[in-house]
Amino acid sequence: MRAPGRVNLIGEHTDYNGYPVLPMAIDRDFVFAIAPADDRGIRLFNEDPSFEPRSFSAEFPVSPYSQGDWGNYVKAAVHGVLDAGFIDPKNARGFDAAIGGTIPESAGLSSSSALVVASALAFLAANQTEVEPGPLAELLARAERYVGSEGGGMDQAVSLLAETGRALMIDFFPLTATPAPLPGDIMFVVCNSLVRAPKSESVRYAYNSRVIECRLATALLARIVEEKIGRKIPAARLADLSAKNLGLEPAILNSWAQEAIGGQPLRLQEVARRLAMAPHAVETELCRLRDGSVLKEPPGGFRVWERYRHVLSEAERVRQMADALSEGNLTGIGSLMNQSHASCRDDYEISCPELEALVSIALESGALGSRLTGAGFGGCTVSAVRRESLDQFLSGVEAGYYDGFVNREGSRPFVAFQKLSDVMFPCRASMGAGYWQAQ
Ligand code: GLA
Repeated sequence: MRAPGRVNLIGEHTDYNGYPVLPMAIDRDFVFAIAPADDRGIRLFNEDPSFEPRSFSAEFPVSPYSQGDWGNYVKAAVHGVLDAGFIDPKNARGFDAAIGGTIPESAGLSSSSALVVASALAFLAANQTEVEPGPLAELLARAERYVGSEGGGMDQAVSLLAETGRALMIDFFPLTATPAPLPGDIMFVVCNSLVRAPKSESVRYAYNSRVIECRLATALLARIVEEKIGRKIPAARLADLSAKNLGLEPAILNSWAQEAIGGQPLRLQEVARRLAMAPHAVETELCRLRDGSVLKEPPGGFRVWERYRHVLSEAERVRQMADALSEGNLTGIGSLMNQSHASCRDDYEISCPELEALVSIALESGALGSRLTGAGFGGCTVSAVRRESLDQFLSGVEAGYYDGFVNREGSRPFVAFQKLSDVMFPCRASMGAGYWQAQ
């Protein structure tokens, strides 16, 4: 079986807020060759020697390896599939797998979710069980939180539902996926900043704190909406409180939001005061992560207003991008990508100096638009480039970033690479995950 990685064209950190995303699957993937086992044993051999062999038993619950271990992504899938009841833990069969992969790791191209998806397909196949891709994507989005980050559902959904040659506009709660055409006269090019951004390790706090800030935004906004309209609106995430859902003019909602969460970063005490709750209750009810730990207040407080502003503006850009793609409006596509990047940098604060350098060099090298892609804090950018300017773009970024910036800033921990085409490549929109039967 095979499961692809993805590049997100636009819609960053919108998924866990219930707003849409617009990614496409890429032709870089995880491939598993499996043999069903006679016992519950799951034995994993990765062709990359830096990922040591792993074996464990398909018993429920599956206890994790230590944090950051690659085998946890396979365990996440097995635990999730058993937990959902698709396979009876009493009769589960394991498998032996030889695993190969071509998705750069910790680079914002979703190698982790591709590994989770391929692992789930392997486990299901070993147990002769089929699950529709939509429900499987929803299940695996929850299951991946096993590794400790509170991710949304974009990566698993696009890996399972993608179509060749198209991007996918994905909505959540409930999950729906609508193919979006890709204009033939541009290409989307991925460039790796060579800064690792592992979501289950160093980037975990930064990612999870954005999720919690959005949760606080939801609670604060829900409270003011209740005060203003005189009834309680059940709100699990920001999209439940959209102007459309509430039947309000966006300007009115915006002024209520300003009143509820506007201004300076909010300290825990202040959030508690505004919610009429004890600080301890805010921590346990709103700042708790899946593993039961409480996310510590960031130094300087929670930047709730900026996060809210990013999520709403980004959701609007996703809709505009769907139109720009189907109209083949190249200037529109580029400008939306640039606006998205600015909002990710200034309001969501998920950029870093290397991504900034790479985006500027991409634009100087002729890109119509360029932005960070994925969770941020390192990893890759995606740039829209006219086909006829592709060579000029590639040589501009090679000279400016890989030969220039990376050499000049040589003391930083850049990831080493062998071929330039491993770290900078135009994407071909590939199809979603699936099986091949050996003849
Ligand atoms: C990671 C998560 C996704 C999404 C992106 C940011 O890739 O796994 O669910 O939140 O970050 O857009």
